[in-house]
Amino acid sequence: MINIGFLGAGDIAAVHAAALATIDDARLVAVADVNPERSQALANRHDAMVSPDLEALLRLPGLDVLYILTPPEGHARQIIVAAEAGIPIVCEKPLTLTLAEADQAIAACKRAGVPLMTALSHRYHPLAGLAKELLQSGALGDFVAAWSHRLTYLSVDPDSWLNDLSLGGGLTLQYAMHDLDWLCWLGGPVAQVSAQEAHTNFELAIEDNLWALLQFRNGGSGNIGASWSVPSSWTERGLIGSQGNLRIIEQKRLVGRLANGRELVEELGDDYNWFDVFVRESQDIVDLLQQGQPFSITGDDGRQALEISLAVQKAAKTGGTIPLPLA
Ligand SMILES: NC(=O)c1ccc[n+]([C@@H]2O[C@H](COP(=O)([O-])OP(=O)(O)OC[C@H]3O[C@@H](n4cnc5c(N)ncnc54)[C@H](O)[C@@H]3O)[C@@H](O)[C@H]2O)c1
Repeated sequence: MINIGFLGAGDIAAVHAAALATIDDARLVAVADVNPERSQALANRHDAMVSPDLEALLRLPGLDVLYILTPPEGHARQIIVAAEAGIPIVCEKPLTLTLAEADQAIAACKRAGVPLMTALSHRYHPLAGLAKELLQSGALGDFVAAWSHRLTYLSVDPDSWLNDLSLGGGLTLQYAMHDLDWLCWLGGPVAQVSAQEAHTNFELAIEDNLWALLQFRNGGSGNIGASWSVPSSWTERGLIGSQGNLRIIEQKRLVGRLANGRELVEELGDDYNWFDVFVRESQDIVDLLQQGQPFSITGDDGRQALEISLAVQKAAKTGGTIPLPLA
């Protein structure tokens, strides 16, 4: 049995708790949140304890892993405290808000020999994973280009940390990071990026539309489009290789064709529920902890997703082309 503690009892904590509840060998044992009503409500729903704070949570006997489910501004500090207590960590994306913080957090985990996972959940989507497998197996040939466009309407409370660049990192770190991470997962290291933002919802203090162009070191290219402000939601991902191409439509259907004539069709069905991604993520975490194996998505992966996101944000703010790695 894997005993799990949560720091943070907000929206994503509720999703992770529900996902873990579907897994036989996992148990949410305790929850800590600066808002005690939230921790109590989540603990009640899952028959867990409430801990007054992170330190108390980390002292619980038999705790196997800490999930950090708080706004990103606190992640670096919280990772370092958990690492020093010797508890494995699953931290929500973005790993941190700056590369300096990411380096400190990763170094603390390495020093303590504590495994650190960044919860880049989109990698667990079955069609995102199938695209990666088709590329890795050589079936699609060499990487040529990929894109990820996720446009939606998100009602952001103007008083929320999400609407504060210094607390959340804006649309780019909060949302487009998933798209940028998927592209880098496929295409590898990026040489340079350019980007443009648009601000269409003036109730928000942050960018709410983003378009970015990535040039990979392997010569391939990538493009992402992200919005929190379109009335009609739309999602499409795509991948072009030298021997075939595919599209993932609305995260439910993969279609494509290889140069040898093989049709690629994979249907998840219209009633596919994104919750499945969190169940897969939880199952992977629990399986690897039980086997004593490293996490599939590491702190270094989280740093890489952060670096590309910060580069895109800088490109959009300055209107320039930003080379990677960032200085
Ligand atoms: N992987 C995904 O798809 C996904 C989706 C949503 C959110 N997230 C990430 O999850 C994290 C949390 O997002 P959310 O939507 O749940 O936010 P939220 O505001 O709904 O919840 C955050 C909770 O953390 C608590 N908190 C804040 N500071 C704390 C501290 N120092 N100690 C203890 N508790 C503290 C708050 O009281 C709140 O209950 C963010 O990093 C976000 O980017 C990831």
